[in-house]
Amino acid sequence: MKALEGVKVLDFTHVQSGPTCTQLLGFFGADVIKVERPGVGDATRKQLVDVEGADSLYFTMLNHNKRSLTLNTKNETGKEVLERLIRECDIMVENFAPGALDRMGFTWERIQELNPRMILASIKGFGPGPYADCKVYENVAQCAGGSASTTGFLDGPPVVTGAQIGDSGTGLHLALGIVTALYQREQTGRGQKVSAAMQDGVLNLCRVKLRDQQRLASGPLQEYSQFGEGVPFEDATPRAGNDSGGGQPGRILKCKGWETDKNAYTYFITQAAVWKNVCDVIGKPEWKEDENYATPKARLTRLTEVFEAVEQWTMTKTKFEVMDICNPMNIPVGPILSMKEIAEEPSLRETGTIVEVDHPQRGKYLTVGCPIKLSDSPVDVTRSPLLGEHTEEVLAGFLGYSSSEIDEIKASGAV
Ligand code: COA
Repeated sequence: MKALEGVKVLDFTHVQSGPTCTQLLGFFGADVIKVERPGVGDATRKQLVDVEGADSLYFTMLNHNKRSLTLNTKNETGKEVLERLIRECDIMVENFAPGALDRMGFTWERIQELNPRMILASIKGFGPGPYADCKVYENVAQCAGGSASTTGFLDGPPVVTGAQIGDSGTGLHLALGIVTALYQREQTGRGQKVSAAMQDGVLNLCRVKLRDQQRLASGPLQEYSQFGEGVPFEDATPRAGNDSGGGQPGRILKCKGWETDKNAYTYFITQAAVWKNVCDVIGKPEWKEDENYATPKARLTRLTEVFEAVEQWTMTKTKFEVMDICNPMNIPVGPILSMKEIAEEPSLRETGTIVEVDHPQRGKYLTVGCPIKLSDSPVDVTRSPLLGEHTEEVLAGFLGYSSSEIDEIKASGAV
């Protein structure tokens, strides 16, 4: 038994944001039917192709645990099939450009007429307002959601992060909205519209930066490196390099081998509660009682000096040795892991966070499994579907069309 067993999802998503969401629902056991344009499919199938003739990793890694139905929803017969799907499903997820679903003839009002229990979940770049009509991709959302202006170093330009907080992050937000709406439907019997804007999702993840924006009114942000370096603050939350976003100062520091290994670094946090342990580890026991270093407040103007001393020590150890030495002393540290190291990490394979999947066109590849573990709903990751692989199966088994009706649908060019 899976948590969402029996829940039927009409997956009208494409690219990354929507597919991340429906993939999660699939991991939790929902029956996810991905509707794709005949002969074309989700554009990502053919983007960043690494194996000629095979679906790309971009597509496969975002579309596990789904079935694929091809359907031209601008064709009259295709619309009829879509209506039947809407009647049959619990959830419809889409991330088309603004207005595309309405132009197809499927307004929220029409969808409610067809199925009052339907939960319609949508991702758009922006919520209502001046940019509501814009098409949006990941980095646009990172820029408009406050992430880029607060990422990078003070003396450099804004920087986007590799974590897909606009796409996958918003997909995750939407998934929470969907299961919440499903829960509410248990009480009311009614579906509802769930909307997640990418700008809002990114801003939610940048909440601490809006916190800092308001703190600026009370003076400089003392935990930012620039405070200790005497660089004045301006009127907006600045880029903070690798400073910790919380109350415990932290930095990325070189480790043994940094001269040749781009990832021989560790994150090191000088948590106040374990300051004495930090002093012992880095060979500065005299700092434990020295009033210039003994308290977090005293250290704020000396963070660069403190971290330089810590780095003198971390440079004598590998990032893993730093971890092994610091963890038993409760000093929070984190090795900078490369994607190669992550791909090869046995413990991530054991937990199902990294999964090897076999695919008929491309053979074996790695993917990220379900990052959320439910003790009563184990996840079996199944490969992404080929384009239209389940068209007949869905028309016959899921929608109950007879074989002669399926022949007619095919003849109409709808699938
Ligand atoms: N049958 C027939 N037509 C279909 C179809 C199907 N099965 N599936 C999609 N289409 C049509 C749509 O109806 C639309 O037609 P229209 O423009 O005539 O109304 C057309 O395909 C293109 O859809 P659109 O969403 O505009 O695709 P795009 O490639 O131009 O834009 C995005 C892509 C991602 C920029 C855009 O979809 C978007 O802004 N989405 C919301 C934000 C988002 O999720 N962004 C992140 C993506 S990772």
